[in-house]
Amino acid sequence: MVKAGLEDIVAGTSSICNVDGKEGRLIYQGYDIHDLAEHSTFEEVVYLLWFGRMPNKSELEAIDKGLKTNRKIHDDVVKAMRGFPKDALPMEVLRTAVSMLSMYDPDDREEGIEANIRKATRLTAQVPTVVAYWDNIRTGKECLAPREDLSIAGNFLYMLTGKEPDELATKSIDVALILHADHELNASTFAARVAASTLSDFHSAITAAIGTLKGKLHGGANQEVIEMLLKIKDPAKTMPHVKKMIEEHKKISGFGHRVYKTEDPRATHLRKMSEELGKVKNELKWFEMSREIEQFILKEKGLYANVDFYSASVYYMLGIPTDLFTPVFAISRMSGWSAHVLEQYQDNRLIRPRAEYVGANNLKYAPVSSR
Ligand SMILES: CC(C)(COP(=O)(O)OP(=O)(O)OC[C@H]1O[C@@H](n2cnc3c(N)ncnc32)[C@H](O)[C@@H]1OP(=O)(O)O)[C@@H](O)C(=O)NCCC(=O)NCCS
Repeated sequence: MVKAGLEDIVAGTSSICNVDGKEGRLIYQGYDIHDLAEHSTFEEVVYLLWFGRMPNKSELEAIDKGLKTNRKIHDDVVKAMRGFPKDALPMEVLRTAVSMLSMYDPDDREEGIEANIRKATRLTAQVPTVVAYWDNIRTGKECLAPREDLSIAGNFLYMLTGKEPDELATKSIDVALILHADHELNASTFAARVAASTLSDFHSAITAAIGTLKGKLHGGANQEVIEMLLKIKDPAKTMPHVKKMIEEHKKISGFGHRVYKTEDPRATHLRKMSEELGKVKNELKWFEMSREIEQFILKEKGLYANVDFYSASVYYMLGIPTDLFTPVFAISRMSGWSAHVLEQYQDNRLIRPRAEYVGANNLKYAPVSSR
């Protein structure tokens, strides 16, 4: 029987990530997300996802160095970005820039595992630069050279704002990057694996993934959430607004999930972060409005908040422009996409499912003059 949206269909094996939708657990290569969010760093998680185990000290230093020294993007790509329409969507720019970067990658025509790991390293290092530079270009700010003394999270904030990133913001982004790093065969990862399975190149697979993440049923949901909160603005109007949306059978972004039928473990962390940031920044209203919506939607629709619901208020309070929320998701998911593309290449078979034909049969061609 055909299942719309391939719901619950197991489409392959993978040792990268396990999503337990019943228990609400998320595991990267055997490690629980709660453990990683509390103790690890994004750079360590990148290694874990790509190599299947935690790095030792020298391995961590090596991957960290690769992720720090490859941040610069080719001048031609920056030049092309300067020529893009200033109202281009950041996800459009990211998709196009990543596609362009393949032509400047020194391993462009190399297909071996080592070359693909180098490509994964470069792209994971470069995607934050593209996102920050686009915001600089469209707002007329200087594109600062990436720094090699900061983590991915810290350097992204530095390039975006031009200021020394504070510890709380860096830590918050770092944890958000860990939480979004991988999620099994989500739509964008599946798209990447399908592209890789044709033995197309690494950048093509990532470009397909970025285009897929952009949709509002997937990574685009976090931007939709903040737009809803900003539209409501006045906490007293929260419930009337949300009730109206439900009455009109509109979907509330940031709720529901194809796999989780209980609390999304990533939302647990982001909810806490949203509350803590709200207190520190004296902007608790975003958390409070979110909490009210969350409790109502759970009671009314039985739907839980997903990763995108509280990440919206977290990013907003960190001063990230709202249309960069999905690109920030992409900065993180670069690690998971890369892991899956590498895994796909390692034991490849073309992904080519079938469709159940429900169209017409036995029609006869008639010339256009007689139609
Ligand atoms: C995530 C999502 C795409 C999963 O989709 P899915 O498994 O195909 O589930 P469906 O869209 O078929 O939804 C099943 C039912 O729940 C309802 N529903 C699901 N998510 C809902 C939401 N966010 N708000 C209101 N109703 C929702 C649907 O309307 C549908 O109701 P119906 O059976 O009465 O028609 C879906 O929950 C959604 O659109 N959420 C909002 C976007 C979002 O936050 N995406 C990020 C995911 S991490």
